[in-house]
Amino acid sequence: MKNIVILISGRGSNMEAMVKACAAEQWPARIAAVVSNRPQAAGLAFAAQHGIATAVVDHKAYPDRDSFDAELARVIDGFAPDLVVLAGFMRILTPGFTQRYGGRMLNIHPSLLPAFPGLHTHQRAIDAGCHVAGATVHFVTAELDHGPMVAQAVVPVLPGDDEASLSARVLAQEHRMYPRAVRWFVEGRLRVDGARVQQLGGEAQVFTAP
Ligand code: GAR
Repeated sequence: MKNIVILISGRGSNMEAMVKACAAEQWPARIAAVVSNRPQAAGLAFAAQHGIATAVVDHKAYPDRDSFDAELARVIDGFAPDLVVLAGFMRILTPGFTQRYGGRMLNIHPSLLPAFPGLHTHQRAIDAGCHVAGATVHFVTAELDHGPMVAQAVVPVLPGDDEASLSARVLAQEHRMYPRAVRWFVEGRLRVDGARVQQLGGEAQVFTAP
């Protein structure tokens, strides 16, 4: 049984999708804890209702990134994680932290990386005139929104789209893709070779709207 620790900052809908998939599909893993850097994160209530341990490490209580990351790592390590999952976790992590969980920390970013790292990805995709947008699941490295890509979800950008409509279309695909990618990891079905990640069962690493 592998231990998964999920980090959130807010709504937690990706975490919710993962909790449900882990139970429904009987993964060889358990969601050991959900940790938030914001005490008010809505996702904490969902996790608690599902009997999952929760913890808060409030970044505002720490003078700098190093001390915050040190405490965050101490809390995470208390749950003996095999995998750390960033699910809408909106903090920039120090190189020491990313190194500590190297090869066992995944993130989802709401763009087709390497396009649009950082914030406001959907508006930037609209403003750039993109015809497709999406999200990427990747291993976390020291460079922000970078690292070997496990899967990508692609959706069309439609005439009249605004940030809200496009982000909703992308989020629906995030909820399909992220649990699948995490399941691949816990089942040992990912091979990382430099920047490239191969799904060993031959499953598609591209998700499109059904
Ligand atoms: C998701 O769209 C995720 O891709 C994005 O935040 C949202 C979290 O939603 N992540 C980032 O922007 C990370 N840089 P959720 O809390 O409902 O899962």
